[in-house]
Amino acid sequence: MAGHKEVAAVGRVLANPKESLTTRFRALFTLRNLGGAEAIEWISRTFVDESALLKHELAYCLGQMQDERAIPILEEVLKDTTQEPMVRHEAGEALGAIGNPKVLDLLKQYSEDPVVEVAETCQLAVRRLEWLSGGGDGGQAEEAAGNPYMSVDPAPPAPKNSVQELRAQLLSESLPLFERYRAMFALRNLGTEEAVLALGDGLQCGSALFRHEIGYVLGQMQHQASIPQLQAALERAGENAMVRHECAEALGAIGVESCLQTLQRFRDDQERVVKESCEVALDMYEYENSTQFQYADGLLRLQGVQ
Ligand SMILES: [Fe+2]
Ligand SMILES: [Fe+2]
Repeated sequence: MAGHKEVAAVGRVLANPKESLTTRFRALFTLRNLGGAEAIEWISRTFVDESALLKHELAYCLGQMQDERAIPILEEVLKDTTQEPMVRHEAGEALGAIGNPKVLDLLKQYSEDPVVEVAETCQLAVRRLEWLSGGGDGGQAEEAAGNPYMSVDPAPPAPKNSVQELRAQLLSESLPLFERYRAMFALRNLGTEEAVLALGDGLQCGSALFRHEIGYVLGQMQHQASIPQLQAALERAGENAMVRHECAEALGAIGVESCLQTLQRFRDDQERVVKESCEVALDMYEYENSTQFQYADGLLRLQGVQ
């Protein structure tokens, strides 16, 4: 068990802009795994950083921790228009992930934010909270059932359907985003190559928020069939940086030779979040292919073990 001293030491690594980004990411995931008020405090403090990538990951981790003590900082970040859209988006999504209905009014208010990624995120979070308070589809347990990835998702999977039907629901731009996300998570849970290819088609859809979530889900699945579509999205001139970021990380998660070459190519991208995503993805790849015991190794590093 880590005590106060260890948490603070890992926290200082996270908060220190002089540390490398990859080390800070590992510290963040260590704090996320440790949990508790102090870990949340260190994560909260780091929202003053200059890296949008790091800050969006802070918000993501706070959401995944599902600890209500993170609500005030997430509300603050969502409201702060000086934060990058990607960071505010992740704060809104995290508020939905925590699942406390007390944030409903705020999320409704920001469902009309002029930044479309923020507005769409808040609309989804409102739907998720309403879905939860309505008892889900007959029991919350169903939400987690069938998700092999242990993630708290912005929407529950759609009730079982064929890949063909789910694909149609996923790609139908006239449906509410929440319904399309439900199809997305159902396809992910199916995990077949056919499902992967259907999801990849989503990278051509209209909403950048939707496309970035497709990238995220494909990263979770780590299926090689998605490589061409992920590479194409990363390479596409004019594609939203949030989408390109998620595709870069997904390629890193898949981690075969062709993915690595692509990441090396974009490691100096002009878009800072893309460049940093490639750096972090290559570090994660290195971990996958090493004998290192764990990626979230902030504690081991302090002890000089790695
Ligand atoms: Fe996101
Ligand atoms: Fe992301």
